[in-house]
Amino acid sequence: MANQSPILNLSKTQFFVFCVSLANVVLVSSKSTIEPCSNSDSCNAMLGYTVYTELKVSEVASLFQVDPIAILTANAIDISYPDVENHILPSQLFLKVPITCSCVDGIRKSVSTHYKTRPSDTLSSIADSVYSGLVSADQIREANSISDPSVLDVGQNLVVPLPCTCFNGTDNSLPAIYLSYVVKPVDSLTAIAAKYSTTITDLMNVNAMGSTSIKAGDILAVPLPACASNFPKGASDFGLIVPNGSYAISASHCVQCSCGPGSLNLYCMPASLAVSCSSMQCKNSNLMVGNYTTQQTSAGCNVSSCKYGGFVNGTIITTLSTSLQPRCPGPQKFPPLIAPPSSVIRDSIFAPSPSPQSEGVGALTPRSSLVPATGSLPGLAPIGGPMGRSSDACSLVNPSTTSGIAAFLFFSFKLLFAIL
Ligand SMILES: *[C@@H]1O[C@H](CO)[C@@H](O)[C@H](O)[C@H]1NC(C)=O
Ligand SMILES: *[C@@H]1O[C@H](CO)[C@@H](O)[C@H](O)[C@H]1NC(C)=O
Ligand SMILES: *[C@@H]1O[C@H](CO)[C@@H](O)[C@H](O)[C@H]1NC(C)=O
Ligand SMILES: *[C@@H]1O[C@H](CO)[C@@H](O)[C@H](O)[C@H]1NC(C)=O
Ligand SMILES: *[C@@H]1O[C@H](CO)[C@@H](O)[C@H](O)[C@H]1NC(C)=O
Repeated sequence: MANQSPILNLSKTQFFVFCVSLANVVLVSSKSTIEPCSNSDSCNAMLGYTVYTELKVSEVASLFQVDPIAILTANAIDISYPDVENHILPSQLFLKVPITCSCVDGIRKSVSTHYKTRPSDTLSSIADSVYSGLVSADQIREANSISDPSVLDVGQNLVVPLPCTCFNGTDNSLPAIYLSYVVKPVDSLTAIAAKYSTTITDLMNVNAMGSTSIKAGDILAVPLPACASNFPKGASDFGLIVPNGSYAISASHCVQCSCGPGSLNLYCMPASLAVSCSSMQCKNSNLMVGNYTTQQTSAGCNVSSCKYGGFVNGTIITTLSTSLQPRCPGPQKFPPLIAPPSSVIRDSIFAPSPSPQSEGVGALTPRSSLVPATGSLPGLAPIGGPMGRSSDACSLVNPSTTSGIAAFLFFSFKLLFAIL
């Protein structure tokens, strides 16, 4: 990547010194994938969240401070059910939670989530249970400068840093949104790849993995094929990207956009919730957002469509376009909606084994570092080489020099806060 962060520029000496300190500090070696970033633009990402106890949709939403309707649409759950925001979701339900991924101190992460402590909470229960392993107790401790984790005041407002990646909204040059997935004890890389219709090679590449071994608690970035928008930069929904098979709600609940099946072109139309919305009619036309007309001509099919162009300053932007296509399009297809779930259908973890994959297509270009998520310090991948377990990677480094310690300490100090 062009925008390399200092992480990737550490010298081997610095890396060695780092490993030595790592050996003394790291308690658990769960890893998560971090993405260096350089600009302050935020982007869209997804968290893979396992509901830890029966919770209303609105309660899950408030855990992450996101819109309940956005959680429902991201999971293709039908929002037309009455009082759907108060629907009680079953314990252990797996949900994709759409979040905004920021760039903080050169690393992609989400820092917009806060949690108010309740009686009997511990940092571990908050991390492992409430946030289903998306964050570690140590990360919460560091993020909130808690010196004594045994003393948590009830009602304390904690920042909960959450892992996210965007990788420019693409995977192998196709639009993609990244799901931060916490590896479960039964998971294998093969099963995860099959479940998300990707390949082992791609997962290894995205996560800069040296081997296929994964461990419960590791956090992988899983690319989901998606439909990208091209709204103007000033739009509040700039960068909207919707995973295949799901929906997104936008423009103050006035517009809903869907992705797939069939084509990965974003399709937006008035939302079923739309109540008081600015006009969604295209200028000089009787077409509304999402409408199109076709006219068979000798040259092909003349398609006129009124498309949603983003939410700018509280206004729904519409654009009328015409194009000549070889064939007239059929009716718009929509991803199937599911009823608000009330029980957990155990989806087969041991999904059908994927068809043999062509390994090593093109040059593998790791875009990230796989680092320990649970220790107080991050691990670092040596330049140009994805690392497997941090201990293996460290042992490759020749422990001959000790200069650069000061520089390194400065670095690790900075990184500590960058990552945690
Ligand atoms: C990001 O993606 C856009 C297209 O979506 C492309 O033009 C641009 O070069 C990419 N940037 C990087 C740094 O990969
Ligand atoms: C999108 O999802 C549909 C099923 O909902 C699937 O048939 C199709 O292959 C998916 N497209 C991509 C590019 O993954
Ligand atoms: C235009 O879209 C609206 C809302 O989606 C729909 O009710 C209406 O039937 C459509 N009109 C035409 C001409 O397709
Ligand atoms: C296509 O249809 C639009 C309106 O329906 C019309 O203005 C335009 O001239 C047509 N173009 C062609 C090439 O027929
Ligand atoms: C939105 O409003 C702000 C100030 O109210 C203005 O500066 C900006 O140009 C507007 N954006 C667009 C795209 O109209």
